[in-house]
Amino acid sequence: MISLDGLREQFLRNVDAVKSMKDLEAVQILYLGRKGLLAEFRKNIDFKSLSEEEKGALGKGFNDIKILMENTLDEVKSTLDSGAAMEAHQIDLTLPGSGQSLGSLHPITLVQMELENIFMSMGFAIETGFDVETEHYNFDAVNIPFDHPAREMQDTFWLTNGMLLRTHTSANQVRALEKFGVPMKAIFPGRCFRYEAIDATHENTFYQIEGLMVDRDISVAHLISVMKTLLTEVFHREVEVRLRPGYFPFVEPGFELDIKCLICGGVGCRSCKQAGWLELLPCGLVHPNVLKFGGVDPEKWSGFAFGLGLTRLAMMKYRIPDTRLFNLGDIRVLEQFPSGV
Ligand code: FA5
Repeated sequence: MISLDGLREQFLRNVDAVKSMKDLEAVQILYLGRKGLLAEFRKNIDFKSLSEEEKGALGKGFNDIKILMENTLDEVKSTLDSGAAMEAHQIDLTLPGSGQSLGSLHPITLVQMELENIFMSMGFAIETGFDVETEHYNFDAVNIPFDHPAREMQDTFWLTNGMLLRTHTSANQVRALEKFGVPMKAIFPGRCFRYEAIDATHENTFYQIEGLMVDRDISVAHLISVMKTLLTEVFHREVEVRLRPGYFPFVEPGFELDIKCLICGGVGCRSCKQAGWLELLPCGLVHPNVLKFGGVDPEKWSGFAFGLGLTRLAMMKYRIPDTRLFNLGDIRVLEQFPSGV
């Protein structure tokens, strides 16, 4: 009769040769089946001829080999199962992965970053200011007292504590004079809010970049030179602009700098309200009262300020016909812009 050791070796040789579920089943029946080799082995033992000690040793050896067979067959089965699953799903490990799509910077962020670089190269500092402002910095300190009609033009969202969502980045002017003193030059990009009837060029939430430069003998010539550098750099080409008088309580004289509409080339469309021109860059020389509010002597110092409509600039630069597309969060619009830095 074959010994337990012989049975183990023969079993391991047979398992090695298993290639399929069918082979596996055959080996299982051969060794562990009701009439299999293990059962046969057991049937042929002459228990009467064995001592108690021999019976114990044989019983343990028998159990050990049975457990070994069951475990080995389970392992082979799971190996065959996973191979079958791979085949069933046709996984081709040599194919490239599906990859992850990268997000992109918002077009307004892209233009803002570009402008910051331009101004930094001209030696301007960059400050951000606050979305929530005091009535003092947003209105009074820029020469718009409580009863001034200019407040009508910039109705906004008031908070219950008396503060407001800033209506323009000009709120930074006096803050900056107090913080930096003079001479100084800085830009202030940021979000502005107005209680506005929205259309293709007006949103209730939009972006501006304020610019302020105060030094000795600053004139309109300095202002125009900086505006020209700015626009040529942003559009990477000559753009047609026009300068006309404009009224803002915090500048004197004040101007409106308009850009010829790049969507229609000046013919007139809904993006420029059929005017052919788009208001982009109001500016002027800082009003003496604003300098005084900032603790600066207007007899000794002068300056220029501008309030660039960043959202409208992005519209023109990327030829986006409707400002509302910026805030829509529509991925089909946003993914068209380069992922930036
Ligand atoms: C102002 O806000 C002044 N504080 C600008 C200024 C600064 C003038 C310094 C002089 C000196 P205005 O309300 O025109 O001005 O807005 C400035 C620019 O912001 C506009 O030319 C326009 O491009 C943009 N803008 C204004 N309102 C909106 C709006 N509702 N939606 C989108 N852009 C707007």
